[in-house]
Amino acid sequence: MIPYLNPALAVEERVKDLLARMTLEEKCDQLLQTTIGPDVNPNNVGDGGEFRPTIGSILSYFGGVHKRNEFQRHAVEETRLGIPIIWGMDVIHGWRTGFPVPLAQACTWNPETVEAGCRIAAKECSAEGIDWTFAPMVDIPNDPRWGRVMESFGEDPYASGVFARASVRGYQTADPSAPDAIAACLKHFAGYAASEGGRDYSYSDISARKLHEIYLPSFHAGVDEGALTLMSSFNDVTGTPAVVNRYLMTEILRNRWGFSGFVVSDWDSFRQLKAQGFSADPEKIAIRCLSAGNDMEMVSECFKLLPGLVRSGRLDAAIVDEAVRRVLRVKFRLGLFEHPYTEERPLEATALLPAFRETARKAAQQCAVLLKNENDLLPLNPDSIGSIALIGPVAADAAALVGNWRGNVDPATVPTLADVIGEYFPHSRIVTAPGCGFESAGDDGIDSAVEAAHKADIILVALGEEWNRSGENCSRSDIALPAVQRLLLRRLAALGKPIVLLVTAGRPILYPELEPCANAILHLWQGGHEAARACFDLLTGACNPSGRLAMTFPRSMGQIPIYYNEHRRARPDQGYYHDLEESPMYPFGYGLSYTRFTYSDLTLTNELVAGVKVTNSGERRGTETVFLYLSDPEAELTQPVRRLIAFRQLDLAPGESGIARFELDKMRDLAYTDPNGERIFEAGEFVLSAGGLTLHFDCR
Ligand code: GLC
Repeated sequence: MIPYLNPALAVEERVKDLLARMTLEEKCDQLLQTTIGPDVNPNNVGDGGEFRPTIGSILSYFGGVHKRNEFQRHAVEETRLGIPIIWGMDVIHGWRTGFPVPLAQACTWNPETVEAGCRIAAKECSAEGIDWTFAPMVDIPNDPRWGRVMESFGEDPYASGVFARASVRGYQTADPSAPDAIAACLKHFAGYAASEGGRDYSYSDISARKLHEIYLPSFHAGVDEGALTLMSSFNDVTGTPAVVNRYLMTEILRNRWGFSGFVVSDWDSFRQLKAQGFSADPEKIAIRCLSAGNDMEMVSECFKLLPGLVRSGRLDAAIVDEAVRRVLRVKFRLGLFEHPYTEERPLEATALLPAFRETARKAAQQCAVLLKNENDLLPLNPDSIGSIALIGPVAADAAALVGNWRGNVDPATVPTLADVIGEYFPHSRIVTAPGCGFESAGDDGIDSAVEAAHKADIILVALGEEWNRSGENCSRSDIALPAVQRLLLRRLAALGKPIVLLVTAGRPILYPELEPCANAILHLWQGGHEAARACFDLLTGACNPSGRLAMTFPRSMGQIPIYYNEHRRARPDQGYYHDLEESPMYPFGYGLSYTRFTYSDLTLTNELVAGVKVTNSGERRGTETVFLYLSDPEAELTQPVRRLIAFRQLDLAPGESGIARFELDKMRDLAYTDPNGERIFEAGEFVLSAGGLTLHFDCR
C-alpha cells in the first residue's frame, strides 16, 4: 500500500510520504480555499473563486451532501494523488438545532452544556458533509457596541479559555478522525475584539501587556486542548496587521505554544492589507502572509502566485512545504483520507432529534439571566392567572430567538413565545399582540396592544433585537433597544399591571429606561431552538434561573468601555463621572435566582486548596455559580482590581449546604503574564474573594 494511504502508519510518516510526491502546483493548491458560488455571509463580498479538484478547501457550501460528494469524488478519484478537500463552515452555535449564541452559552457557566451543544452541532453538520467549523470565536470583547460580542464567550479571559476548551472537545472529541467529529477553529487570532470604538474591522491598538494578559490566554487554552486550526483576524494589531504578524502566528503560536495544525486567513483579509495601508502588491502580500504563518488563504487568491514566487527564487520552497505539511496533517488527523465522503442519510435521521432539542432547551434555560424580580413576582402560578397578555415584537418572532450566525437553523422549526404560551397557561385567557415592529411603530400597533392588554392580570412584554442587529458588521453607536419598543413598554407599564419584561438580544443592552417599567426582567439572550419553552419553564418555576452575566451591562454609552477586571486607580474615590453612578447597570457575574445563597467559611490550606461553603437558604432548589477571584494588591506590574481564576457550580436543595473546592496552582493562578508573555510569580500578599467574602494570605 502506498504509505500515505496507509492508515496504519503514523500521521507524520503519511505527511512526509505524500509531501514528497507532490508537485509545486499541487502543494500550493492545498493552501487555497474557495466557495462554490457566492458566500452566504452577507458581509463577505464577492464570489470565492473557481473550483479545482486539487484545491485544499471549500467553505460555506450549502449544496447538499450528494453534490458535496460529487465534488469530493473529483478530488479523490480524478486527481493524481487523490487528496480530499476539507469542507469548512461557520457552525457557530448549532447547525440544524439552534443553541444559544456563544455569549449566552457563557452565561450558563456550564462547560458541559457548551460541550454538549458543540457535540450535537458536529453530529448534525458532519452528517451534511462539513468537516470543519470556524468556531469557537474566543476574542475577548469589552465593548458592546461591537456586534460580534454575541459570538464571544464574554469579557473574561479565563472563562473564555474554559469555554474554548469545552468547544474543542465538543467539536473534535478525543478522536478527531471519527466520522462525526469536525475540526475546531479558534478565531480571530488575535485581538479583533479590541477594534477601536467597537467599530468592526477597525484598527486595534494593543499593548504587549494587554495582548498577553487579555487577548491570548483563551487561544492558548484552545491550542492546549488540541484545536486543529486557527483563523487569523482582520484587525491591524498596533501597526502590524494580524495576517502579517509573524510574532503572533509563528513566535507565539508555533514556537512557544507548539501549535502543529494550520491557520486559515479570514475572508479576503490578504487583499484588505491595501486598505490597511500595508501593501497593494499581491506578490508581496503572498510572501509576507505565508511567511508570517497563514497556511491557507480564504478566497482572496494571492496564494495562487506562490508557484511563480518559488520558481523566481523570491520565496523559499521550504516555507510552502511547511504550510502544506500542516494542512495535510489536519486532513490525516480528521481521517479524511479514510472517509472522504459523507453517507447520504435523510435529515430526519441526523437533525433536530428530540434529544438534541432537549439539550438545546437545557442550554436555553441555563443561559437566561434573571435581572429583576420585585417582591418575588416570579415564578408565576398559572392557576392563579385568569388573563395574561404577551405583547411585543418578539412575541411571535422565531428568528429573534435564534440570533445571527444561525447556520442551517430554519426559524420555521423554532416555536415562538406565542406558539407555546398556551401550554403553560391552559386555563388562562391569553392575548398576544406585537405592539410594534422591532424598529418601527407599525400602524397604531401600540394603541391596540395597550387596549388588548388592559384587562390582563399580568403582562409579559417581549422586546429585543432583531436577529441580525448583533453579529458581524453590526456595530452600533447606541445599544439601547429601539425607541418604539421603549415607548411600547412605557405605555404598557402605565396600565399599572404587573409587568414581566422578556428581552432577546445578542449583546448587552441599556436597561436604565426599561428597568423602572418592569416588576421582573428576564434577559433571554438569543436562546436557540427551545428558547420559548425554556423561557416559560423559567417563568413558571419548572426550573430556577441560574444564568449569570459573562459581560458587563453599562448604565449608559458614556460608560463604555466598562468591565469587571479593570485596573486600579491612583485615587480610588475620585475621578469618577460627575453625572452618572459609577457602577455598571448589571455587573459581570450578576444574576438572580428564585432562591437565596449564603456564603461562609472561605478557607485556604497551605497546599493552596481553597474552599467556600454555600448554603441554599431559600425554598427552592437552585444552581449557584461560585466565582473565585484573585487580587494582587502589590506587584511590579500593577494588577487588575480582581480577576477570575476559577468557577464551579453547586446544585443545592433548599437548606442544603455544599463546599466549592478549588485546587490552586501558584504559577497558573497567582502569577501574572508580563509584556513578553512570561509568567511571573511575585511572592507577597494576595486576596481571594468569593460571594462577598475575602481572605488575605501570603504566598512565597
Ligand atoms: C467572516 C468572519 C469569519 C467567518 C468567515 C467565513 O468574514 O469574519 O468569522 O468565519 O468570514 O464566513
